[in-house]
Parts: sequence; structure tokens; C-alpha cells
Amino acid sequence: GDAGARVVIEEFLAGEEASFIVMVDGKHVLPLASSQDHKRLQDGDQGPNTGGMGAYSPAPIVTPQLHARVMREIILPTVAGMEKEGIRFTGFLYAGLMIDAQGNPKTLEFNCRMGDPETQPIMARLKGDFSKVVEHAIAGTLDQVELEWDRRTALGVVLAAHNYPDTPRKGDRISDIPAETDNSVTFHAGTQLVDGKLLTSGGRVLCVVGLADSVRSAQSVAYETVNRISFDGMQYRHDIGYRAAGRKQ
Ligand code: GLY
Repeated sequence: GDAGARVVIEEFLAGEEASFIVMVDGKHVLPLASSQDHKRLQDGDQGPNTGGMGAYSPAPIVTPQLHARVMREIILPTVAGMEKEGIRFTGFLYAGLMIDAQGNPKTLEFNCRMGDPETQPIMARLKGDFSKVVEHAIAGTLDQVELEWDRRTALGVVLAAHNYPDTPRKGDRISDIPAETDNSVTFHAGTQLVDGKLLTSGGRVLCVVGLADSVRSAQSVAYETVNRISFDGMQYRHDIGYRAAGRKQ
């Protein structure tokens, strides 16, 4: 048959991945803060791929120059191209980028959603009433809003269930979760409350976010909270943010 008659040769893209998420109202584009996640299960980017074991925002690799270039060369032409084809896209547009050693961006993928776990550190930095921004997106007036960001770095560590990512175990009792403070917040993902007890109910159970003036300090804050939470089989990476911590901010 014709199987194998056509061979597609693709460029191998080496570099560092970053997430570039924007809001689109059909015409106007409002970028969210940059972020980067960690896909592998284990420290040092080892082990199987997961949906994400942690993330931080901003991503120092996305410099102001690179940000402007991504908007100019990737995001705006994509939105304009969709409009030209009769697709008036409204919602979150997530570009997964590969940034090469020279700082050049290439697009790996687009998703029509926010990222997980990128959203947790991004939201921890967002100031003001986000529902108002969503209303502007629906009304087609995103050009009339500006987002205000906490200048600190937010770093989120995912606490995953036993046997994640294969067949995560459900039903493990989660210890008390420290209360939210000005520099720490824990997001629930795979949890459920049964008879007043908090139990695991999914692969990625919690995302613990720390906020501080540097990546290293945000790491310390996040891991301090992580160390106060436990459940049987809890898995997490100990090195979230290691790339950004080694980069000039
Ligand atoms: N963290 C990757 C994604 O949400 O697709």
C-alpha cells in the first residue's frame, strides 16, 4: 500500500520550554504573565512525562524582548489568521514554546485553555478582580483592561498521588493544609471531602505555591509548606524552579 510512501522530516527542536498564555476576545489579545513548568516526574527532569509537577511565574527566560517577539511573530499572526479563516476565537490561547540557546522561539503546540500547573502560580500573582477581565473578554473589550501583577516570583510544587502518572491511587487521607498567607497558597486539584475528611481523588492532588522576591526564596517558602503536608504515597519534585534559580533575574 501507500503506507510509508510519504516521509515527513521535522526539525529537532532543542532548548527550554516555556508557556505563553494569552486571553483573546476574538480580536484583542491580553497576555498573562509568562511561566514554565516541569513535565517529568522526578528530580533533574528524569522519569516519565506527566501533566506537570510544578511551575513558576514569571519565567526569566522570557525576557521583555522575547515577549515582544512572541507576540509579534506567533500570537498576533495566529489570532489574525484564525479571524481571516472565519474563526473568531474567544478564550485562553496557550502557546507551548521551545526557546533555543540563542533565545529564538519556536511553537511546539497550541492549547485552547490555561495550563496546569502554570495557572496556579500565574493566578497567585494576579491582582484585582479576574471576573471583570473575563467579562471584558466576553464583551470583546480586552483592549480596555490592563492586568496588574505581583512583582514577586510565584513557584508551585505539585503533590501527586501514589502511582501517578500511571494509575494514581485515590482515597488517601491528606493531613491538615496550612492556611493561606500573604506568601503561600495551596490549590486543590485531585481532592475530595468525605465525611469531613480530605482525601486524594486524582493524580495531581495539590499545588503548593510560594511567593517571594527571588526564585530561590519562593522555592524555600513553597517547600516549607510542602513539608507540613502529607498523605500516603505522596510524590513531589524537590527541584522545582532549578533552571530559573540559576538564571540571572
Ligand atoms: N502543563 C502543561 C499543560 O497544561 O499543557
